[in-house]
Amino acid sequence: MADTKSVKRHSHPGRGGRGAAHPKGRQIDANAQDQVRALLGDKPRDRDMLIEHLHLIQDRYGCLSADHLVVLADEMKMAMTEVYEVATFYAHFDVITDDANRPPPVTIRVCDSVTCEMLGAEQLIAELSKNADADIRVLRAPCMGACDKAPAVAIGHTQIAPATVDTALAAAKNKTHVKLPNYVDFNAYEKEGGYALLRECLGNTRTPDELIETLNDSGLRGLGGAGFPTGRKWTFVRAETGPRLMAVNADEGEPGTFKDRWFLEQDPHRFLEGMLIGAWAVEAQDIYIYLRDEYPEIREILLKEIPKLEAAGLAESRTYSSPSRRRRIHLRRRIRDAGIDRRQAWPPPPQTTLPRPNWPIWSSYSDSQR
Ligand code: FES
Repeated sequence: MADTKSVKRHSHPGRGGRGAAHPKGRQIDANAQDQVRALLGDKPRDRDMLIEHLHLIQDRYGCLSADHLVVLADEMKMAMTEVYEVATFYAHFDVITDDANRPPPVTIRVCDSVTCEMLGAEQLIAELSKNADADIRVLRAPCMGACDKAPAVAIGHTQIAPATVDTALAAAKNKTHVKLPNYVDFNAYEKEGGYALLRECLGNTRTPDELIETLNDSGLRGLGGAGFPTGRKWTFVRAETGPRLMAVNADEGEPGTFKDRWFLEQDPHRFLEGMLIGAWAVEAQDIYIYLRDEYPEIREILLKEIPKLEAAGLAESRTYSSPSRRRRIHLRRRIRDAGIDRRQAWPPPPQTTLPRPNWPIWSSYSDSQR
């Protein structure tokens, strides 16, 4: 009688038929794993940190190799396709599949948008390309938010504007560092009466309805193109069930636009107080500031100043309806794009990495359509 218990095993077609089974996909390289783990340290592996981690690798190694991306996907428990999709979406990341495509160690990006074009970008590109050493590459780039000082170039995280061939090449050869502009810091801002309104809000001597009424009376509107009335937006957001998060778009990218940069590098606490009052009024738990990657000096300023707010107890989320807890302010680097990718701020459920609007009204509409 035949042995009905013995089952003949067939090799899975994906294994290639004969011989030993091979795991699918690109495998983890132990060296790349050590490098990525050393860079990430104990930083959270949450999926909303993806762009931050891609920046870390790009900054350290000058590109994103396939081996590093595989390790990152594994560390973050994400599909390789998702990591690859995001990494290849942004022009500032250099994704390479083999060492032959590794970019030169230094990249000079020259803005060729309208203002820089009018002030000599084409000639600058031509002369830089002719005079740069072999270990320097010259690339065209879109507006860097330095139109008031055109023509602009960027080398790593340093912006030179107005730039000449000599200043750009000198900066490319000698490592340059971010220089902080003179700005109104926490003490100076407080001395001039700053944070008085936020303190009143946190002390419950103001109400959200009162502030919303003031905004409605003022006719203040958003500057994002739709011109949506700010008071109405706060009312809509307050009506949504929590938890609520606030996303601040400091990633201006329209050619010829540098208003955010100008404002943030002069008077950052005026922006921070407004942001915290808004978060208090709509009872947002956490705040995500998406700052344009071409503004490293503003990032340095915010990294210095935000902890002062936290130390002064101004970042707390005391509201009528939620107990006091520390509101977290997340500072994220962004690179020019036409909107806010919801994958960054709202981890689940990622369906696409393409930019799309994330107005509160849109969010609730699109959520209801799922
Ligand atoms: S057009 Fe060149 S920096 Fe804006």
